[in-house]
Amino acid sequence: MSEFSTVLSETRRFPPPPAFAAKAHLTSMEDYRRLCAEADADPDAWWAARANEELHWQTPFHTVCEWEPPHAKWFLGGKTNLSYNALDRHLATLGEKAAIRFEGEPGDRRDVTYRQLHAEVCRLANALRALGVKAGDRVGIYLPLIPEAAVAMLACARIGAPHSVVFGGFSAEALRDRMNDAQAKVLITADGGWRKGQVVPLLENVRGALAHGVPTIEKVIVAQRTGAALPALRENEVAWSALVAAQPATCEPEWVDAEHPLFILYTSGSTGTPKGVLHTTGGYGVWTSLTSRWVFDLKPDDIFWCTADVGWVTGHSYVVYGPLMNAATVVLYEGAPTTPAPDRFWDLIERHRVTILYTAPTAIRAFMRLGEAHPKKHDLTSLRLLGTVGEPINPEAWMWYRETIGGGRCPVVDTWWQTETGGILISPLPGVTITKPGSATLPLPGIHPQILDKQHREVKEGAGKLFITKPWPSMLRTIWGNDARFKAGYFGEHPELYFTGDGARRDADGYFWIIGRVDDVVNVAGHRLGTAEVESALVSNLKVAEAAVVGRPDELKGTALVAFVTVKAGVPTTPELVAELCAHVTKEIGAIARPDEIRFAVALPKTRSGKIMRRLLRDVAAGTETKGDTSTLEDLSVLAALRNDDE
Ligand code: WTA
Repeated sequence: MSEFSTVLSETRRFPPPPAFAAKAHLTSMEDYRRLCAEADADPDAWWAARANEELHWQTPFHTVCEWEPPHAKWFLGGKTNLSYNALDRHLATLGEKAAIRFEGEPGDRRDVTYRQLHAEVCRLANALRALGVKAGDRVGIYLPLIPEAAVAMLACARIGAPHSVVFGGFSAEALRDRMNDAQAKVLITADGGWRKGQVVPLLENVRGALAHGVPTIEKVIVAQRTGAALPALRENEVAWSALVAAQPATCEPEWVDAEHPLFILYTSGSTGTPKGVLHTTGGYGVWTSLTSRWVFDLKPDDIFWCTADVGWVTGHSYVVYGPLMNAATVVLYEGAPTTPAPDRFWDLIERHRVTILYTAPTAIRAFMRLGEAHPKKHDLTSLRLLGTVGEPINPEAWMWYRETIGGGRCPVVDTWWQTETGGILISPLPGVTITKPGSATLPLPGIHPQILDKQHREVKEGAGKLFITKPWPSMLRTIWGNDARFKAGYFGEHPELYFTGDGARRDADGYFWIIGRVDDVVNVAGHRLGTAEVESALVSNLKVAEAAVVGRPDELKGTALVAFVTVKAGVPTTPELVAELCAHVTKEIGAIARPDEIRFAVALPKTRSGKIMRRLLRDVAAGTETKGDTSTLEDLSVLAALRNDDE
């Protein structure tokens, strides 16, 4: 990979700016080394101290960690509530502080103070209880990025009802599958949301999903976001405003066990069905709270903008739970980055005086392409720290982010983590770590990543598969309803070591460089997708016989999706069919899974044992396959015969 070779020769180093380090929560490499040493010397004592610092425990825990691979339990015996930790704790001193500064795509603005957020959460929590939602019952959330999304998540946490947020860009079909898997009792949605000047028809999608059968859902709560009034509601639907109107603004939290499920979040794996990653309360709360302060150096007057949607784990951990537990002010922006103009992000930063920006490399590359005139029009001097997440960042984009957006004065933290890890595991500490463009640098204290070769020997310097060798509090507990998949997916390579699915390299300084997924998961424009999911959407079209989807390196999106498709006899392979198949995938999953390219083939190349030769397809998609006559590339079986790889 050419990207990888630039990374290999990357020699630039950026120490933390002294002025930043002087005021940071963690200020020196000695701080870092001391924390790591303490965590290693007596893990139980160290984690217990962290847990007691980060959270209010209504009942103290008696056991720090029980590790029976692959299952971990943390802070056993302890009872807490994350809505209490995110809200009630701050009311006495910070009640009037803005918790959320919301801006809608059309430009409407709303500030929500901690006191107001607390009241809204309590009202909805009471309403959910009145609907019969009890601790342990699952609640679906399918909302735009508006304050109600945070209210809904925290209201669920308040009553101990695990939430399952589904990104608003997913289709009715995708929503239905997730709600059925979670067996949700109530679904919270809105009439719509704004995206690129259009209304995303959320309620319509919900109705579509329910029409195909989600028998467990008893009630749909509908918030009003677009339009002057809600459309006529059906019998099973109730307006959010009417539902909460009569509810009191206080609500006794449900004090749940540390291991009580907090949320299920669906993510892509290497099979066709998304998996419900289960996170529990105590450990997730401790780690998201702690990492928000360590990595983002949150201070009382910061304005923190993590641009992720709450439909992804980044939105769970670093829009809602982590920052609010730290009493931060978070910016919530509903819409597209370039609506109505390419400078919308920079305009937002200037007007809201954002101090910390956390976004995805794909967005940074898209802004680079739009040119620096757009950010240059705005005063970005409020920024003091920049972060990235979701995919490897190429050094060129890293440098552009640092210079053009950060004015050369802001540390850049490239944070590596996953839906499964709950919070950031490998990242620079902005006041401590000397950064190298393209490297996520070093593990946070208490975290033990290792690169292993095929024989599971540690690679101290060099490349291999990335494992985490000891449990950490915010690790996923299982796959909802499918513990076998949990075991096979993460502990199939080694029964006691968590396998991340990523390949990585460690350099002579011990820095980690994430190369990317080594399984059939791809990161497309910062969104995680399973190639098998897209394949199963394609073959559900009656004209398709077989499909294989692979990733191809893409300058903008990191990875683009290329689908190789064979059609049933007599079906003409026309541009119309390409359009039809793209629309079909959009309907089955959502626009984020739409293939960038569809190539029809007479047959898919297979090994003698009948397995699709994915490596060959990846080479063909990337244009690096040079053997054979390129004019007949579409006859992939010819190529397959030329190459003899048995994958
Ligand atoms: C990738 C997002 C390189 C990686 C929080 C991981 C990264 C997958 C980085 C998880 C990073 C995330 N550098 N790659 N800083 N952060 N990834 O579950 O491949 O949506 O396995 O979680 O994104 O994606 P997920």
